[in-house]
Formats: sequence, C-alpha cells, structure tokens
Amino acid sequence: MRNRLLMGRGHMPNTSLFALAFAASPHPSAATATSLMSRNTSSSTSSIATSSILSASISQSSGEQLSTFLGSSAAVSSSSTTVPTATAQNPIPGIYPSTDPSNPPSIRQDALEVVPDFNPAWQTAHTKAQNQIANYTLEQLTTIVSGSTSRCVGNIQTVDDWPGLCLNDGPLGVRLADYITAFPPGINTAATFNRSLIRTRGLFMGQEFKGKGVNIALGPMMNILRVPAAGRNFEGFGADPFLSGEAAYETILGMQQGGVQACAKHFIDNEQETNRMTSSSDVDDRTQHEIYAQPFMRSVMAGVSAVMCSYNLINDTHACQNNLTLNGILKDEFGFQGFVVSDWGATHSTLSATAGLDMEMPDSSFFGETLATFVNNGSIPLSRVRDMAQRVIASWYFLHQDEDYPAVNFNANNQGDEAINEHINVEDDHSTVVLDIGRASIVLLKNIQNALPLKKPKSILLAGSDAGLASIGPNEFANAGGDDGILAIGGGSGAANLTYLISPLEAIQIRARQDRTTVSWILNDFDLARGGNMAIGASAALVFVNADSSEGSDRTNLTSHNDAEQLILSVAAQNNNTIVITHSVGPLIVDSWINHPNITGVLWAGVSAAETGNAITDVLYGAFNPSGRLPYTIAKNAADYPASVSTSLEIPYAEGLQIDYRAFDARNITPRYEFGFGLSYTEFKYSGLNIVAVNESDNAQADLIRNWEAGYPSPIGLGSSTALWLHRPAFQVTFEVQNTGDVSGGEIPQLYLQMPPSSDEPPSVLKGFSDVFLQPGETKTVTVMLSRHSLSIWDVVAQGWRRPQGTTAVAIGASSRDFRLTGFIPL
Ligand code: BGC
Repeated sequence: MRNRLLMGRGHMPNTSLFALAFAASPHPSAATATSLMSRNTSSSTSSIATSSILSASISQSSGEQLSTFLGSSAAVSSSSTTVPTATAQNPIPGIYPSTDPSNPPSIRQDALEVVPDFNPAWQTAHTKAQNQIANYTLEQLTTIVSGSTSRCVGNIQTVDDWPGLCLNDGPLGVRLADYITAFPPGINTAATFNRSLIRTRGLFMGQEFKGKGVNIALGPMMNILRVPAAGRNFEGFGADPFLSGEAAYETILGMQQGGVQACAKHFIDNEQETNRMTSSSDVDDRTQHEIYAQPFMRSVMAGVSAVMCSYNLINDTHACQNNLTLNGILKDEFGFQGFVVSDWGATHSTLSATAGLDMEMPDSSFFGETLATFVNNGSIPLSRVRDMAQRVIASWYFLHQDEDYPAVNFNANNQGDEAINEHINVEDDHSTVVLDIGRASIVLLKNIQNALPLKKPKSILLAGSDAGLASIGPNEFANAGGDDGILAIGGGSGAANLTYLISPLEAIQIRARQDRTTVSWILNDFDLARGGNMAIGASAALVFVNADSSEGSDRTNLTSHNDAEQLILSVAAQNNNTIVITHSVGPLIVDSWINHPNITGVLWAGVSAAETGNAITDVLYGAFNPSGRLPYTIAKNAADYPASVSTSLEIPYAEGLQIDYRAFDARNITPRYEFGFGLSYTEFKYSGLNIVAVNESDNAQADLIRNWEAGYPSPIGLGSSTALWLHRPAFQVTFEVQNTGDVSGGEIPQLYLQMPPSSDEPPSVLKGFSDVFLQPGETKTVTVMLSRHSLSIWDVVAQGWRRPQGTTAVAIGASSRDFRLTGFIPL
C-alpha cells in the first residue's frame, strides 16, 4: 500500500523538505509534540511525507482504516503526467461534483448540499504548468517565485511568453486604483450572516480585480477576532471560526468565479498588530485546528489558489518558514494545491522554500538569485523549485488566466501616472451590493417602545462628527489611515479608494424633505453643552459615534473616537428619544450609556463603505427591517474578554477554544450583547425541529464513515481534513420559522452544537446558520446541514477528527444565548 501511494503521488507538488531545519515548535502536551514530530521529520518528497504521516497513523489506528481512506481510486498511475488529487475519491455528480472555479456550486441550496471537487480542475492546471515549465532554466524558475517591482503591490516578471503576475490588495476591493468599488469590509459582510450577499460581493470583487488586470487579489483576510482591540479586525469575518470559514468559502467561490485568484490570508495566528513581526503566537494543536485553521481549510475547499503566510511566528517559528503549518497542515492535511506567498517582507530565509513557502514578496531578498545558489550548492533540490514554480503557474491556469486575461491597466505605485493609468471603470452597478450589505449588516441593539423605526418625526437632531462628511473628500487619508467625519472603512492595506460616500446627514435630509421634518445638526464631538441644548425639543436626537483602526496598530481602548460617550450622555440628558448610531471596526464598550433611560434606540452600523448613510437611513425609517447579527460579543467590561492585546513577544493563546462567546458561556459571564444577537422590527417564532441522518445511497467512503461513527479518529493523509466523507451533509436539521409580527423582515436562525462533557468543548459552538425573509404571518421551513466535520473534535494524539463520546445536542436560536428549539443528533 505504501508503494502504491508513493508511486501514485509522484507528482504531487513537493511539500515537506528539510523539515528539520525548522525544528518542531514547543507544544503543550507531550502527546502533541510526539505526533507533530512525526510530521516534522518527513523527508524529501511530498509522497514520502504523506506516507510517513500515514504510517504514523497506522501505528495509531489500523491498517484497515488506511486502506478505506484511500478508497478504490487510490491506485493512481505512476505515469509522468499524473497530477495529484487531494483525496482519493472520484467526483460524484450532485454530491461531489467535478468543479471548475468559473462555475462554482450555486449560492443557495447547492452550497449546503454539495462538496465541490476541484481536484480534476487542479489536475488539468498542474499538467499544463508542468508542461510549460518543463524546459525552463533555473533562472526562469526562480523568476516565477520571486517578487519584483512593477505596477502592482506585488509583481512577478514575464518569463518567455508567459506574462508574469500582478498581485494587489485587498480584501474589500482593488486598492490604490481608481474607478473601483470599495466593498463593505469583512466584518460587516459577516454580520449579514447571508451567504448570497457574501458570495455576490465576492463575485463583484473578482470581476473588478480582473477588469483592472490583477491576477491575484490579496484577500480575503480571515484571521479570527480573538482580541477585541486588534487593528485589523474589520478586515476579517469576526470571532467565530465557523462563520469566518463560511464567509471565506463563499467569498472565494465568488471571487474566483469572477476570474481573479483569491489569496487567503494571513496564515496563521496573526491576531494582533502590536509586535506583529516579532511576536510568537503560541497555539496548541487542537485550538489551531478547530479555531484558527478552520477558515483556511474552508478556503482550500473553495479551491483558493493562493495562501499568504503571516508576519508572526507560530510557536516560535516564523509563519513563512513553518514546516508544520505550511507543509503539514496546509499542503498535506488540507491538500492545498496552489501556492504560498509570503506576506510583504515576511520571508526570513531561503530555506523557507523547504518549509513550504512558494513565492517571496515583494522582492527577492531570499529567493531570486540566492535561491538559485542554494539549488546549485545542493541545499535545496531543483525538484522543489520546480514544484514552487509549477504551483504558481498551475494557479494561473486553474483560473483560466491564460485565456484573454486583461493586462494590468493601472499603477498602484503611482496612481497619478497618466502614462500607464487607463482609468478603466470596473464599478458596474456593484454599489447595489454595497447598499444591500450595508443594510443587512446593521445590527439593531436596542429599541425601547418602538422608538424605531422613525415615523415622520417633526424634528431631528444629528449630533457627532460621524454624522457628516470629512472635511476633505472621501479619501482624505492615505490608505484610510485617519478618522474625520463618517467612518466608512478601516485603514491600511485592507482599505481601498471610495469613489463617493453618502453620509447619514445627506441621506436623512433627503428623507426629511419627503416627511417635512426639520433637521438640525452639530458635527462637533466636543461642544457638549451646545449638543445638549440643540437636543432639547427634537422629536428624535441621533448621536453618531465611531471607533476606527488601521493595519499596523491596535486600538488602545474599546471606547469611541473623541470620547464621544460624553456627547451621547450630553444629548441623552436633554432628550428622551436619543438614538445612538455607531460606526465601529469592532467591539465598543457601551456600558457608560447603554442603560440611560433616555436612550431609546441603538444601531450598530459597523463599517459599510460608501452607502452607509443610505443603509442607516433605510433602517432608521423602516424601509429595511434590520437583520444584521453581531459577529462578536459586546462585553460589559473590557476585562471580561478572554484575550487582549499583548505586548509580550510570546503570546500564549492560553484561552484555547474559549474565545469570544464561548468564553462568556464557559465562564458564566453575562455579556452586554452576545455573539449572534440582533433585534428586528418584527418577531419570529420557531417550531418543529426535526433532525435526521442523511441517506447516503452512493456508499462513497462508507468504511471511513463507519469508522467515525464507531468513535475512531479519522486517519490522517493527504487531503484527509478536507475529504468528502467528512464534509458532506450527514444530518439534516429542519425547523419552521414564522413571522408573528406585522411587518415583513429577515431572520437569521443559528444552529449551535452542545457537545457532551467528554468533548471538552465550549458550552455552545456555532455550526450552522441561515437567513430567511418572511411576510407578516408567513412561515417557512429552514434547513441546515451538518457535516461530520462539524460534529467532530480534533484528536491531538491521533491527529484526526473524532466524534466525541456521548450525545451532542442541537440548539436552534436567534443568538448564541437565545435558544428556541433543542434536539439531539441521532447517533
Ligand atoms: C499586509 C498584507 C498585504 C501586504 C501587501 C502587508 O503589510 O499584511 O495584508 O496584502 O502588505 O500590501
């Protein structure tokens, strides 16, 4: 069996070379260390690496399990054109369909029922790439994997008639370019809990990157909101690994359908900005698998073509030379077939190549000629450099970028460069999804006696700088690195130019004209007396506050810009219909004002780009019934969060699985507003929970399923964590949701698992969600699918996914603490 494997995997891109150069990192338990060592000592080719992993697992499980993992199609041929597949399962139409990135499963039902099989498309792409580079010189090969300077944020030079590559930020749109759309940041996208909107945003982004000639978009960003004050939280998808994973999955399917290569970043454990290049995130293996790696695993399952390794160290080894995470987890365990690019300046050695790094950016400090020297002196095998180049070129073919892909037509390094910038407008009507996400991401936190929606108020005051525009255009600060007026996005490489920006003041005035409402405003956060005085007698006093952050620095507190809490209190002191609207990159502590009796409403608007004024106005006036849900917990006190920004160079992720709501639940701390929370202008009733096992008539990987059902951990192998049997729907959960109020609206039903005590899991973990829109009185059946992966925990000793012993409960509800229905997994 091992020989078959060796032959069959002969052309899998090489992964685990010279692993010992990057010693296994210290891990908390001896068992972990032992099992990790077996992976770090793998030798010269991926085939061998894989087989050594497999042989390690044989000693822990049984030979029979191994053969069942490989399945009938494992005996792949050893012919020289054979290109690897990440799992040994052939495509199955309607279940595991052979999928091209240009034609992903449809947004809705398919997304729940189908596991797309990108292996055949990867295989075709790798074959083309292998042929293309067959006669390339060493210099040509190293050119393909080494950064250089040109028009984009990152560039790969032309080789022969191959045009080279443009890599450009970022996670919310084409950065440093004009006539593009800055889409709402990841955090608001996640707050919609709406797969269709997430996918559509991805698709539109992909089309815009392609239109500008960008080959690789440097996003989405999927680091977890572990630390509430982390500067880049707004770029990511919040505090829950499942939500982040699904948002990454949908975003990437959309982006790559649009034609651009997506780049999942930053792999991995890059959860704060303070000391981001020098600190080590010390993460245990189970937490790594269940929390931080989850969105990257889902990215691989979405066929992502690139992954960016991060600045930080992981358990004392730099992320871009970390054999365990790059070769072990990403390439072997997840079966990633694209390429790993370093974050900008995150390469620290030429030997990183042997740990799994495939491309250095933005220059060739360690690759380029030095890489060639390392090959020539025998330090790095030529086969590994071939593998790196093959992965890069294969990703280009995988996205069909060989077929009429537009040339780069802007200059990110000099936006005013008229010689090069063709000013191609790629915006199309993409502002529609900006507004849609803007509205659908607003979370209604408080609404006393139906203060909202507003009903033709006679007079309105808008107070706070965040209600109006900045003094200079929508792009006053480079990379949005400043806070003036309305906060639409955060700053850094996760920003992009806004082509326009609608403020709440502007949008509300247009509405006021229609309602004959008198509007006044004070856009000064510090003139507290005047703000209070102006609030006297207004039918509604709206106070706008914000909290900003940028890449490179973390927030220093969890309160508002300009201490605008004082403005809130001054206005609330004078007006008993005070409504607070927050634009924020992450959690804010609201306890200094939230229970003020005169504060009747609170809208959490996050950061939602150009249409935010319209989105807020639509929610304020009930043109849109709010359905956004918090993608993180809002605590009563900052100290209640399980983790905060660390100034140490060793950052123990000591809370393990207990991040965000999981910690509040486990420690019995009542939050101010829990993860998943959000009010509506209507009410929803849940009923009729039904949980059934899915009938898998195709019998694929049945032995593996039986093995798992019997409580054994999954055998480890190439692509074992992304295998069909683990991710296909295993249980179907259905229930009814009825709109019992008198206005139409959307509900976000959430599914949490409560695993048995033996699992050592947090009390409740999100494993499913849906969105349903209902007319008054209307009832719809909601379906959520659960995979075996969702029902598993990571077994550190066996290095596999295992069903915990005991009964797992299913809780369906409107937030992580508002459960309406409960049942059990029939196992
Ligand atoms: C950031 C990346 C970004 C890169 C290129 C780095 O500083 O961490 O997210 O893609 O710069 O701009």
